[in-house]
Amino acid sequence: MDETLTIVDNRTKQTYTIPIYRGTIRATDLRQIKTGADDFGLMTYDPAYMNTASCQSNITFLDGDKGILRYRGYPIEVLAENCTFLEVAHLLLRRELPTEQQLEGWTHEVMRHTFLHENVKKFMDGFNYDAHPMGILISTVAALSTYYPDAKNVHDQQIRKRQIRRLIGKLPTLAAYAFRHSKGWPYVYPDADLGYTRNFMNMLWRRTEPKFIGSPILARALEVLFILHADHEQNCSTSTMRMVGSSNADPFSATAAAMCALSGPLHGDANEKVLHMLDEIECKENVPAYIKKIKDGKGKLMGFGHRVYKNYDPRARIIKWAADQVFAETGRNTKIDIALELERIALEDDYFVSRKLYPNVDFYSGIIYQAVGFKPEMFTVLFAIPRTVGWLAQWNEMLSDPEQKIARPRQVWTGHEVREYVAIEKRDKTKVAAD
Ligand code: CMC
Repeated sequence: MDETLTIVDNRTKQTYTIPIYRGTIRATDLRQIKTGADDFGLMTYDPAYMNTASCQSNITFLDGDKGILRYRGYPIEVLAENCTFLEVAHLLLRRELPTEQQLEGWTHEVMRHTFLHENVKKFMDGFNYDAHPMGILISTVAALSTYYPDAKNVHDQQIRKRQIRRLIGKLPTLAAYAFRHSKGWPYVYPDADLGYTRNFMNMLWRRTEPKFIGSPILARALEVLFILHADHEQNCSTSTMRMVGSSNADPFSATAAAMCALSGPLHGDANEKVLHMLDEIECKENVPAYIKKIKDGKGKLMGFGHRVYKNYDPRARIIKWAADQVFAETGRNTKIDIALELERIALEDDYFVSRKLYPNVDFYSGIIYQAVGFKPEMFTVLFAIPRTVGWLAQWNEMLSDPEQKIARPRQVWTGHEVREYVAIEKRDKTKVAAD
């Protein structure tokens, strides 16, 4: 097959042939298409990056039409069923699933970084008791860059490696401190013997007992949720990580920026919003009226729809399965019945069917988090902990890619041509300034 594209510019009647590479053309190949010597050349215009690949990647594969998600070639279902979160983190960051010996070494490398400088407690204490934990997490991750000035040497592979382990190790500790701060409880130091997820649970919920020994079923459910959230291709927060990282900012600053993107309700905060929505609906009987409200344009059905998935989000399917395991342990969270009814009615309704709107990962995750014992304010934090692995894998890939440079999109200018300056006393007093 001839992997080229022929374009005829009807303005000049010129013909151009440009190469096609893996289903894409290079936007810069269009620059040769000009109407004259002083023409800048053709650009692509793609608000919200609906159809633009910004990098080549071999980390996460997504086929939105078929509902496929794979990390480094392994189907998400297989990883969720068989792996621990740190095995998956090893896969994403180090390209392969670890052997037993490699996993032992990797676990040690991550867990030894779970401690925080004692000063972190001081700036944690500066936040109000009701500060949103996501705001605390973002600020404290950014502040960590001041503790590790060597992190700025982003082109030094060894330094990069150390920061990656630091960030993954410290994230659960920061998240647990943010939670305990809101409760006014003393902070619990990390305990490496417990492993990644159980150590996190211990730091969250330990009271007077020597160690918090939670239910193994709930611990496994949290582990599965961590695996499902670890990476998701070039989404909004990952693109932010790459964008900020492309300026060679240190990884703490870039991760904090990615977390800011995640904190929006159209992205990671959707899981918290789903819970508020289910609270507002109150009971199954109110679902049809709520759906009607959404169809009338009054808001969105949170946890529904996706830019890439135009089929059932495979993560939502696994979460539904995990919910059954959790409820067998905790008793049924009645919100699941409202959620199931919402899904049932939405999937039969032409509004949702014609727009290919299906439940996404956030639709059911909050219900499980709540059953495990988390408040909705913690949900996005729980998303950020595992996603840090994906952000760092993508950041590392970006810095190793010789084609990548500082990210700098172009614009289509719609403003004035050059204007004549008017002195302040002569300006039009009737003109109303824009807000
Ligand atoms: N409820 C009702 N209508 C919707 C929804 C929804 N959740 N999502 C999309 N639509 C409609 C939208 O109004 C539009 O209709 P029309 O063609 O009549 O204007 C059509 O579907 C296409 O939607 P879009 O806004 O162009 O799609 P997008 O790719 O820009 O947005 C999305 C994707 C995820 C932001 C959007 O579906 C949404 O806002 N969903 C609710 C928030 C949510 O659950 N976010 C979590 C996303 S998955 C995990 C994550 O990233 O954190």
